[in-house]
Order: sequence, then structure tokens, then C-alpha cells
Amino acid sequence: MDAPCSSDNDGAYRFSVAPMLDCTDRHFRVLMRQISRRALLYTEMVVAKALHHSNRLPRLLDFDPIEHPIALQIGGDDPKLLAEAAKLAEEWGYDEINLNVGCPSPRVQAGNFGACLMAQPDLVARCIEAMCNASTLPVTVKHRIGIDDLDSDALLLAFVDRVAHAGAQRFAIHARKAWLEGLDPKQNRTIPPLQPERVASLKQQRPELIIELNGGLDTPKDCIEALKTFDGAMVGRSAYTHPLRWQKIDALIYGEPAHSTIKASDVLNDLLPHAESHLRRGGRLWDLCRHLIQLVEGVPGARIWRRDLGIKAQKTKADLSVLIKATEQLKAAGL
Ligand SMILES: Cc1cc2nc3c(=O)[nH]c(=O)nc-3n(C[C@H](O)[C@H](O)[C@H](O)COP(=O)(O)O)c2cc1C
Repeated sequence: MDAPCSSDNDGAYRFSVAPMLDCTDRHFRVLMRQISRRALLYTEMVVAKALHHSNRLPRLLDFDPIEHPIALQIGGDDPKLLAEAAKLAEEWGYDEINLNVGCPSPRVQAGNFGACLMAQPDLVARCIEAMCNASTLPVTVKHRIGIDDLDSDALLLAFVDRVAHAGAQRFAIHARKAWLEGLDPKQNRTIPPLQPERVASLKQQRPELIIELNGGLDTPKDCIEALKTFDGAMVGRSAYTHPLRWQKIDALIYGEPAHSTIKASDVLNDLLPHAESHLRRGGRLWDLCRHLIQLVEGVPGARIWRRDLGIKAQKTKADLSVLIKATEQLKAAGL
């Protein structure tokens, strides 16, 4: 290892919202920040090659200061490009950079990154070393418990040991293996069984490593249970599809003072300035509103409200008044 990574924090965020392509963009992250002030929020995966000589850097990397703490997730297998990405992450003000070693999509495999890198721990180690040397940010890894037939406990331990030795500060482990051929990415999030006990056994063997459990944590209660064994709990789909479910998470996990119930209308109201500045920059209202659909569920009229917002906010010229009206409707319904 050439140089150790340094960091101002201990890297032990106890709750995080997982990186999800097409979901955890800056609008959803700003929404999620209305619900949890403490969660570590991940970006969608950004491909390291796309950052190289890109004239789209602001589009790929900009975020709102209220999104802190925020981790940039990167996909790639070239230590040089990943080092560049780590440098950019630091310049842009991210709190952490995370390497994706968990995505099984064929497109990502064709680029030799994502989950297929679990078969190449030495290359992952070189990538991590290069990222550590290029920036002072904590460098972390998100990975699976195995791929294809490479899914023994011994291989998982060897992978984590190698990558920890290279400087990785935290391991976010999706507790299911991925089949790289035969299953598509969606199936690879449901068909291989969850095996949190294998991650628990890893944590038992390496108590000094910071290990965050991911996969199938549906409720705050699941996370609290996971935190009895693991250093962190990472939630993906359940945070995206039920954002308000997580409104007590800061009180439950970080002991923050419990606030009164957050209503969907409060969230929308707080998002108005964000929506306004997005529209001012030439963005579309739907970019934000597509994430708001999930805020109202299981109450009479929810379907009509969602359909109405969907139809109106998707119009090219939709302006802030659509969101203001949708907020007022919720307020009037006591939601
Ligand atoms: C729509 C979608 C997109 C995803 N994109 C990414 C990604 O960009 N990077 C990544 O590491 N994982 C990605 N994942 C996987 C999630 O981060 C997470 O590991 C997985 O959903 C399991 O956690 P959950 O059961 O809490 O959803 C994605 C998952 C979903 C549902």
C-alpha cells in the first residue's frame, strides 16, 4: 500500500441510502434529505470513463450542499481513470468515493467493472490504492457476497482482506451473490437468496473492519436489528418506494430528538425552492416530480393524486404552479 487514506470521520455511517441508477439522482437525494438529516446518501453510479475529459462534469457531479453527507459511486476498472475520478470527487466536495463491485448488468460486465471485479481482487486492490493516493476522501467499496461459482466464504474473506489492505475504509455488502449469466440485474436483486448470516460471519472474523449490511432491509426495525451485528445498514428499494417510512430513522439510530410526523405536504413544501431553482436552470418539473409519486400511498385518493401529478408535471412546459397545487391538495387532505 503506497499511502493510507485519511478521513475526518470514522467512516461509520450507521444508515445509508443505496446507490440506485435512475433513482438516487440529486432530486431524490434532496427529497430524502427532508426525511433524514443524517443518512449517508449515494449518487447513482457514474462511470469513470464518462468523467474523463468530459465537458458534462457539472451535469454528472453537481449536487446541492444540503445533500451532505454524500458519497460519489464510481464504476470502472482502470486505476488511472479511477484516480482521476477520486480527485474530482474531492474537488467537487463529496464526502466519500465508493467503487461499485456489485452491479451485474451485461453492459457493465462488458466494460469489466461492477460485480465481475469480484473475480479480480488484485485489480480491485490496485484501483483502491490509486483512488486513495489521488485523494484524501475515504474510499469505500460496495460488493456482493460472491459471483457465479466464486461464492465461498473463503473467497469472500480473501477479497475483503485484499481490498482492506489496499486502503478501503468501509464495505457495503449486498448479502446475495450475483449470477453474471442467465439473470438480468432485476432478477439478480431477487432470485439469489439473501444470506446476511454470511456477512455476519465475515464481520465476526474481521471485527476491526467497518461492514455495512445491504439487501432486503425493508423497515427501520430491520435496520436496528442489523445494527446489532453490523456497523451500518444500507437501504435501497424500500427507501425509494416508501420514503416517509424512514422519517424516524435519525431518532431511532442516531438518537436525534424525535420530530413531529413529517407529512407528504411538508416534504413537497420544502422542495419548492429546489424545484424553482431546477426550473430556472432549464430543468423539467418532471425530473423532480417523478420521485414524489412515491410519497403518497395507502390513503384514499392517493391514486388520483399521483395520476394527476403525473399527467400535469410531465408536460414540457409544466411550471412551479403544478407543484404548488399538488402541495395544497395534500394539505387540504391532511396529508
Ligand atoms: C433501480 C435500481 C438501480 C440500482 N443501481 C445501482 C447502482 O447504480 N450502483 C449500485 O451499487 N447498486 C445499484 N443497485 C443495487 C442497490 O444499491 C442495492 O444493492 C439493492 O437494491 C439491494 O438493496 P435493497 O434490497 O435495499 O434494495 C440498484 C438497485 C435498483 C433497484
